[in-house]
Amino acid sequence: MSTRAAAARIVQQVIYGGDSLTEVLQQPVAQALPATEQPLLRDLCFGSLRWHERLSAVLAQLLGKPLKAADKDVECLLRVGLYQLIYQRTPDHAAVNETVKSVKKLRKAWAEKLVNGVLRRFLRERDALLAQADQQDSARYAFPNWLLARIRTAWPDDWEAILQASNTHAAMTLRVNQRQYTTAAYLALLENSGLAAETVPHVASALNLHKAAGVEQLPGFAAGAVSVQDSAAQLAAFLLDCQPGMRVLDACAAPGGKTSHLLEKTLDLQVIALDSSASRLQRVTENLQRLQLQAQVVAADAGNIAAWWDGQLFDRILLDAPCSATGVIRRHPDIKVLRRDSDIPALQQEQARLLRALWQTLKPGGKLLYATCSILPDENSQQIAAFVAEQHDAVHQTIGDGWGRALPMGRQILPGNTGMDGFYYALLEKRCGKQ
Ligand SMILES: C[S@@+](CC[C@H](N)C(=O)[O-])C[C@H]1O[C@@H](n2cnc3c(N)ncnc32)[C@H](O)[C@@H]1O
Repeated sequence: MSTRAAAARIVQQVIYGGDSLTEVLQQPVAQALPATEQPLLRDLCFGSLRWHERLSAVLAQLLGKPLKAADKDVECLLRVGLYQLIYQRTPDHAAVNETVKSVKKLRKAWAEKLVNGVLRRFLRERDALLAQADQQDSARYAFPNWLLARIRTAWPDDWEAILQASNTHAAMTLRVNQRQYTTAAYLALLENSGLAAETVPHVASALNLHKAAGVEQLPGFAAGAVSVQDSAAQLAAFLLDCQPGMRVLDACAAPGGKTSHLLEKTLDLQVIALDSSASRLQRVTENLQRLQLQAQVVAADAGNIAAWWDGQLFDRILLDAPCSATGVIRRHPDIKVLRRDSDIPALQQEQARLLRALWQTLKPGGKLLYATCSILPDENSQQIAAFVAEQHDAVHQTIGDGWGRALPMGRQILPGNTGMDGFYYALLEKRCGKQ
């Protein structure tokens, strides 16, 4: 299988199979390619999905009518070819030739003429085709209409900046394990290894690499010196303010980024790392082992407390809720392809269910940190406002300073703000005594 043919199959599996790109990149269709081809493969897949709406608008003009269901692999190869011609620096003739050659690898030799013809017509009529496509906002901003409309309504002054930031590449961010190194000491270690990086404002544990690197290149990675985690996600451990000896619940813990940060930061925490996905919990266990940290790992629906809770109240709860992930589109462009408008009310209900259930397990005087990587108010400030309105012992606490923006309830980071992912945090304290 050629790299382009593999990219076409992967993109097809995301667009028409509904699978996440991260998952598909772990499967044999991707893994069978040699390591030297992986960067190109990733670029072709990420790029084709990042610009999906725009590529679709161009392709619709070129094809006239869609290819039949059995030939979606050819259609996806055309998407990959157009991505290269529009966004990559590969010389046009090489991109066309390589894409046409890949048709055979899909065992669709009949389509060689079609692919060649479509891509060459694109090169001849490029400006007109792109101008025509860009008349639609969904193509111009490469966002599906429903999500564009939601972001525009939620952030009337920022929506264009949000869309642009969401279509850029994010830096690779590291979290330095403060039990092993100070951030400054690890920065020096990186520089000695030829990896340039810089500190991140407001997030003491974070370093942004100037150029992405494989984790095996990071000094001390296997021994737990450092983890890969966006700086916005690293704020959780600072906001939850755990003290030694506390009993802490991480209710939606997998793959364990925040669980391990909590444990790195505070000694002697008793942490329960809960997640409904047993397979994703495997990653929590692996991360804890690498970092030499301990937590009780439990597979259960956090919302069904009868199934997992022993009745002992928690001092701190982190609810990093399942969400639309609309704040992390720059790292997961397939979100724009996979999510539907109808997912949002369903997620909102699930988040409210989890909040209500977990609140019962929090000690009076204890704190619950609600987090999402969403930028939609329905899942964030509105969710928390509704919860505080119904839960009379829930007291909203003001958090943060300098990063993101304060909302009446919680704090929102928009994608790209000081280089961070889009994230939302709200801290609630449980009032002591009878109401
Ligand atoms: C945003 S991710 C958590 C990321 C994690 N906190 C970290 O920092 O690495 C949300 C997680 O919630 C889990 N989840 C979804 N519904 C759940 C439920 N009802 N109970 C427990 N976990 C759930 C998902 O399996 C997923 O791993």
